Amino acid sequence: MILEDMILDNVKNMPPSGIRKYFDLINEMEDVISLGVGEPDFVTPWNIREAGIYSLEEGHTHYSSNAGFIELRHEISKYLYRKFNLTYNPTDEILVTVGGSEGIDLALRALTGPGDEVIIPEPSFVAYKGCTAFTGATAKVINLRAEDEFKLTPKLLEEAITPKTKVVIVPFPNNPTGAIMTRDELQGIVEVLKDKDIIVISDEIYAELCYGKEHVSIASFPEMKEKTLVINGFSKAYAMTGWRLGYICGHPILIEAMKKIHQYAIMCSPTTAQYAAIEAMKNGDNSVEEMVKEYNRRRRVLVDGFRKMGLDCFEPLGAFYVFPCIKSTGMTSDEFCEKLLRDQKVLTVPGNAFGDCGEGFIRACYASSMDNIIEALRRISLFIDKINK
Ligand SMILES: Cc1ncc(COP(=O)(O)O)c(C=O)c1O
Repeated sequence: MILEDMILDNVKNMPPSGIRKYFDLINEMEDVISLGVGEPDFVTPWNIREAGIYSLEEGHTHYSSNAGFIELRHEISKYLYRKFNLTYNPTDEILVTVGGSEGIDLALRALTGPGDEVIIPEPSFVAYKGCTAFTGATAKVINLRAEDEFKLTPKLLEEAITPKTKVVIVPFPNNPTGAIMTRDELQGIVEVLKDKDIIVISDEIYAELCYGKEHVSIASFPEMKEKTLVINGFSKAYAMTGWRLGYICGHPILIEAMKKIHQYAIMCSPTTAQYAAIEAMKNGDNSVEEMVKEYNRRRRVLVDGFRKMGLDCFEPLGAFYVFPCIKSTGMTSDEFCEKLLRDQKVLTVPGNAFGDCGEGFIRACYASSMDNIIEALRRISLFIDKINK
């Protein structure tokens, strides 16, 4: 038997993530400063960790209900209303998932298959395209533009919609660009979608990480509520990446369908993480506020640092990424990142790892200490000076 031939084409043909090469390289190097990984450098706040530990001490080591503990779903419901004016019924409109990642996969698996098109604005999180391909559906990419500050415009959306469009992904605040969408900008998107039979998957995992402008959910527009699935989770805002916990909210019919897949494939999300998450929802606001304040300080330093080096860098108002343009160096994104890593031992990620239109940009993550950011800027500056000589 040729094992290779046993693997489905849409799995076989999926290229590995463009980031992997860099993680292999840094494994062989010392003294690398990483602005590469998209995860908080903070440890989960102590009260949240303690709630997880206490649940273990109490012997809470069993499965939860498929949808997640009802107490957690109640807390999520209160949180979403308090923060984003979203109303979801804990009993049948919220499903607790293994990270936002599982929510994305469930939504695409429940809704799409061969013959369907999924609109994916890029640059964006690599999982959208991968999970779309695994369902057999076709990814229809929208190339967002630096001159629009990488926002989704009604015109670009309208042009991408065909009779086959089943799902549109709305990925804001955005990884890797840091772009956000304001209420007015979303209004234009709502006008395009409100009368169409298209489901929106709104990935709001960075909703808490906004600087200067409040996050607005497309689900908060009454015309969109029924046709939107909101993805969120604990990884980014609460520095809980390793706990693997997220949630997806939407109409009971959609949640029920996704719950079926979750039930058979996963059973339930991790119990310890759910206990910790209850504490995060009840008493996590102050910690989030402190982390956001610190991210904002680092964001300013990094943006200003890139601009001082002469690199165009639009103002990212969300998430924890800066997306400077490196076209002036004459290098491709990949060349820039690889040379920077080898010469100066600073890890950044080529923009085209997040879609072809990210070519000419790099992603630098500021979920790293201020000392690291300052040292990274010093090294990047030396690198740029060398190129300019
Ligand atoms: C835009 C976006 N959505 C979702 C996720 C998934 O996060 P998690 O599965 O840890 O909740 C990530 C992680 O990097 C992300 O950047």
